[in-house]
Amino acid sequence: MNISSEEYKELTELVHKRSGLFFEENKLYFLERRLQNRMTVTNCETVKDYLRLVKYDVRGTELDAFVDSLTTNETYFYRELPQLMSFVQGALPLIMEQKKKSGIRNIKIWSAACSRGCEPYTIAMLLKEYVPDIDSWHVQIIGTDISNTVLRDCRQAVYSDRFLKDVPPLVKMKYFTKTEDNDWSLNKEIKNMVQFSHLNLVDRTKMRTMAGYDFIFCRNVLIYFDEPSSKQVVSMFYDSLSKGGFIFLGHSESVARLSAAFQIVRLNNSLVYQKS
Ligand SMILES: C[S@@+](CC[C@H](N)C(=O)[O-])C[C@H]1O[C@@H](n2cnc3c(N)ncnc32)[C@H](O)[C@@H]1O
Repeated sequence: MNISSEEYKELTELVHKRSGLFFEENKLYFLERRLQNRMTVTNCETVKDYLRLVKYDVRGTELDAFVDSLTTNETYFYRELPQLMSFVQGALPLIMEQKKKSGIRNIKIWSAACSRGCEPYTIAMLLKEYVPDIDSWHVQIIGTDISNTVLRDCRQAVYSDRFLKDVPPLVKMKYFTKTEDNDWSLNKEIKNMVQFSHLNLVDRTKMRTMAGYDFIFCRNVLIYFDEPSSKQVVSMFYDSLSKGGFIFLGHSESVARLSAAFQIVRLNNSLVYQKS
C-alpha cells in the first residue's frame, strides 16, 4: 500500500477532527498498518478509494471504525495507585463529609476514556475496601470510551493475568474468579457498580449531557491529543464537575498546563485539582 503525504495529511485531519487524536508524521508506519486492515475489510484497493468511502459515508461509521482501530487501549487494574489512594483517602472523605452535612448521600464518579474498564472497576473495589459505610451511599460510577471494541470487553469483564499484575492477592481472591481458560472473571458485586457507555470526548453535544460529577478520572488519554483539543476537553470537564469536585489526569498530563480554572490542593502528599 502506498500513501502519499497529501493522503496522510487528509486522513489524519479527518481522524483529529473526529476524535482529538493527533498523529504526527513519525506515526506513518503505525497508521499505515491499521489503514491496511480497514482497506481489506472494506474492499478498498487504494488509499484514494478508502478516503472517498470515508468522506461520503454520511453517518461516519467507517471513520469511527478507523478511529477505533487507532486507539491505544493499554490499561490495568490498580494503575498509578498513589493517585487513586489520594482519591479514596483524601478527596473522597472530604466530599462525603460535606455531603453528609447537607443530608446528601450520593456520589457521582466518571472514568472518561476507561478503555477495558480496569480503571472504573478499580475505583469500585477501592470504595468497597476503604469506605466502611459505602453501602449506605448511592454511588454512580460511569465508564465511557470512544472505542466500541473496548466497551464490549468492559461489559464482559473477563481479564487475562497481565491486567491483574498489580492487584493485591487478597483483593484478587475476593473479587475475581478463575475461568476454565485461566482468565479472571470479575465478580458481580463489583461489576454491578459500574455502567458503561460510548462517549467521544470531543463531541461537545454529548459532553454537555455529563453533569454533576464529584470526580472525573481522565488518565493516559490526553497524551494522544494535541493541546487545543486537550484544553477543550478539560474545559468541558470543568463544566461537568459539581462545585468542589475533583479531576484526575495521568502522571504525564498536567491540569495546570491545560486550565487555570482549577485550584491545586495537597491531599495525602499528592497534589489534586479541585473546582472551586
Ligand atoms: C491508554 S487508554 C487509558 C485507559 C485508562 N484511563 C487508564 O489509564 O488505564 C486510552 C483510552 O482513551 C480512549 N480514547 C481515545 N480518544 C478518545 C476520545 N476522543 N473520546 C473518548 N475516549 C477516547 C481510547 O479508546 C483508549 O481506550
